[in-house]
Amino acid sequence: MNSGNDPANSAPATAGPDTTNSAVAPAATAATLITNIAGLVTNDPSLGDGSPLGLIQDAALVIEGDRVVWTGESSKAPATDNRVDAGGRAVIPGFVDSHSHLVFAGDRTAEFNARMSGRAYEAGGIRTTVAATRAATDAELEANLTRYLREALRQGTTTFETKSGYGLTVEDEARALRIAARHTEEVTYLGAHIVSPDYADDPAAYVDLVTGPMLDACAPHARWIDVFCEKGAFDGDQARAILTAGKARGLLPRVHANQLSYGPGVRLAVELDAASADHCTHLTDADVDALASGSTVATLLPGAEFSTRARWPDARRLLDAGVTVALSTDCNPGSSFTSSMPFCVALAVRDMGMTPDEALWSATAGGAAALRRTDVGRLTPGARADLALLDAPSHVHLAYRPGVPLVARVWRAGVASDG
Ligand code: NIG
Ligand code: FE
Repeated sequence: MNSGNDPANSAPATAGPDTTNSAVAPAATAATLITNIAGLVTNDPSLGDGSPLGLIQDAALVIEGDRVVWTGESSKAPATDNRVDAGGRAVIPGFVDSHSHLVFAGDRTAEFNARMSGRAYEAGGIRTTVAATRAATDAELEANLTRYLREALRQGTTTFETKSGYGLTVEDEARALRIAARHTEEVTYLGAHIVSPDYADDPAAYVDLVTGPMLDACAPHARWIDVFCEKGAFDGDQARAILTAGKARGLLPRVHANQLSYGPGVRLAVELDAASADHCTHLTDADVDALASGSTVATLLPGAEFSTRARWPDARRLLDAGVTVALSTDCNPGSSFTSSMPFCVALAVRDMGMTPDEALWSATAGGAAALRRTDVGRLTPGARADLALLDAPSHVHLAYRPGVPLVARVWRAGVASDG
């Protein structure tokens, strides 16, 4: 808990200024100044040190309602009613976790244990979670989801995407999306996670279901459509058919691509102007060139490589080619059971060739780019007031002090909670 007068939790909800009738005074707004910030990461390169992080030393920031309204040097900060002393610690944008699978039941401890004894990860493990998820009630699924969301918030995540994909029937996919949509606007239809066990003998009929009645039931609840394009899941032609059908219904594509082996996923993602190609573990030079030539973000998910003992994605190669890179947790009970963006930042720095600055950018602004959002992942006037106060003098400590719970306080849409 930081020191000083700190009313952020109890600040009344504020209305925006009334611009419809100039005779009416603007509603009073309770602005909160956070001052004495040793290093403020804004992700605006026109600010501070001019780096992509736009790092301002000895900084301050003002929140009004759910927005950031001012950032700059402490000495120039405006007067406000409320004041929080950051105590010479660092403030960063809240993490934008652009890839998770949080509507599920059960866990896969036994599978993880077997993997750590040498067994390989296979897409087929998803079937275990499908069975548990189908058997769960709506209330159980929602309780599980909110548990992991609270866990993620405590670790600084203020925006998250999540998917269906453990139902694989029309009803079970639609209910997963309905539950997810109660908690985030970044909802992804992943009926094409694997071929449903009910269609094991007729994958083409399952693709017809995913692009037909299941899409009809799911499209109203989702913003995105995703496919696991991989051996043992869906091939390039099936993935193209599924993503194209989703686009025709107004969903925006993103792709699980090149996770377990080389394949067509990344190039398909770029061809269809997907917002993101996720995993990108096995890339040819042609895949890297394709990413560099388009606007598709490469979202790297180091928790998956950690938990499957797989080779690391080469972030350095992508960055050097000019590709926009995001980092995300991929939180799911099979391949990556972590909700911790700081953990992913530390892995990316240690094992994927990223600098601490690059990894933090990718976990915040990069995630926002992967979700085609401009209101989050940065701390500049007009952005949503999503930020994390670290128990550290610099954001570099996220990688320098791996595994340490450094998030002291989080503001999400201007509302504070302690880590
Ligand atoms: O992103 N790759 C496909 N889907 C998940 C794994 C899901 C699971 O194993 O349950 C992933 O790693
Ligand atoms: Fe995933």
